[in-house]
Amino acid sequence: MINDLIQISKEAGEIVREGFNKSLKVEYKSNESDLVTNIDKASEKLISDFIKKKYPSHGILAEEGGSIKNGSEYVWVIDPLDGTVNFAHGLPIFSISIGLQKNGKTVAGVVYDIGMNVLYSAEAGGGAYADGEKLKVSENSNLRHSLLVTGFPYNIRENPYNALEKFVALIKASRGMRRLGSAAIDFCYVARGVFDGFWEVFLNPWDICAGKLIVEEAGGLVTNFDGEHINIDSKQILASNGKIHKDLIEILQKT
Ligand code: IPD
Ligand code: CA
Ligand code: CA
Repeated sequence: MINDLIQISKEAGEIVREGFNKSLKVEYKSNESDLVTNIDKASEKLISDFIKKKYPSHGILAEEGGSIKNGSEYVWVIDPLDGTVNFAHGLPIFSISIGLQKNGKTVAGVVYDIGMNVLYSAEAGGGAYADGEKLKVSENSNLRHSLLVTGFPYNIRENPYNALEKFVALIKASRGMRRLGSAAIDFCYVARGVFDGFWEVFLNPWDICAGKLIVEEAGGLVTNFDGEHINIDSKQILASNGKIHKDLIEILQKT
């Protein structure tokens, strides 16, 4: 099924690329930072229609409302446009993320980085790839030499899990911290060894599903802030090369 994930991500990617820098219909969701555009919806519809036609018995968990809960052992977990705020402001950092779960375990995942035109993919036990090139997390074990990435959830004004204090502590402890605005791309850059670590609170299952598998298949580690294995519902995400994981946890727990 990985070929289906790749094909449909690329097709939806064309819709998103076409819509970039064009006039958009923008609506607010939970607040004025939490946006959905006509392009998010069109991308989700294309992906869902494909699944409904080819795999009519499968379930769907999709961000913009097109979920189907039918008890199937297979569930497709879809973020039809990850990085909507970037997209709506004309910043070319956004992606499509599709994960496929079987009995609650992610068996395949694809993240299409549309701005860079790079397709990341992984199958459980089969490694992670960027356009066919095998991915491996970084070797760096020194937090002081690490480049980190994070993101902020739409309820950041409530400062869940002291995310702002954690940001300050980690930026001081590392070489630097970036905030790209697409969690799915953040995971892929950890898998690629660009970032040594990525942490965020209050992500959603569609932000996590494909990216988590891609990091793990590239040899990285994804846990909560207690170092425990997590599923895609976790509200704490820590993804790293494994080598700086303990040091990151120590700071995340202290703040
Ligand atoms: C958002 C992005 C962002 C992250 C937010 C997510 P969306 O997803 O992944 O990087 O910081 O927490 O909600 O809304 O653009 O699909
Ligand atoms: Ca998202
Ligand atoms: Ca989205």
